[in-house]
Amino acid sequence: MSHLEGLPAPFRVEVLDEAGSTNALLGERARAGEPEGLVLVTEHQTAGRGRLDRTWVTPPRAALTGSLLLRPQVAAERWPLLPLLTAVAVTDALAAVGGPRVELKWPNDVLHDGLKLAGILLERVDTDLGPAAVVGIGLNVSTTRAELPVPNAASLLTAGMLDPDRTALLRALVVAVAERYAGWAAPGSGPAEDAALLEAYRSRCDTIGRRVRVELPRGEPLEGTAVGVAADGALLVRPAGTEEGTPPMAVHAGDVVHVRSE
Ligand code: BTN
Repeated sequence: MSHLEGLPAPFRVEVLDEAGSTNALLGERARAGEPEGLVLVTEHQTAGRGRLDRTWVTPPRAALTGSLLLRPQVAAERWPLLPLLTAVAVTDALAAVGGPRVELKWPNDVLHDGLKLAGILLERVDTDLGPAAVVGIGLNVSTTRAELPVPNAASLLTAGMLDPDRTALLRALVVAVAERYAGWAAPGSGPAEDAALLEAYRSRCDTIGRRVRVELPRGEPLEGTAVGVAADGALLVRPAGTEEGTPPMAVHAGDVVHVRSE
């Protein structure tokens, strides 16, 4: 990956040859007072972190692994929309570089034909300058089928993009996040900007309308039908065995499996 000039302010990129986790490193930089807009990417991430305490494994130079630092000046209750904003931005970036058709699995997995192409890990970090968001994105780029760590993963290569360029992708990704973020977090923004973002998210979200099984942080998995995404970003699930019209349950955190209808 080469150095990137001409990104929208305040975004700037640092490329590291190797790093443990770009999220962990950027969190340290945030705590040390780094201003908004730093993007740390690495050619080889050796201790990548995934959602729900999982790992994120990528071979050297085959993936785009990086984290963006945001310091959103928005009400705390709007923060849960940031992961959804990032997922929408990833779809924008892929469209901008002529990438494959993708869909989103709630909250922020980017899928191609049901296989996971990219994951997002958003971590809130408390700093002396206020809360910061470390937005980690891992996108499988030129990973071969044999190199992908799990059978339900995909890369741009396996999705049919023969010569994906990680530098062009990185630029498109930063531009897309910058544009979505500028619109959503502008001074004075609120419900109207949330509604516009949610409209974009819902139109890309393949979970809505599907039968799902949701592994919840505590308790039994929830099975049912995903009937929508609420204004606060929660997934709305009507539990299996309940009648149509029964109020859905709002899921704020969990791992969703799209259950195939027989
Ligand atoms: C997921 O589990 O779906 C989220 C994966 C997020 C991986 C990215 S790679 C760059 C950044 N640094 C990390 O340690 N994780 C995120």
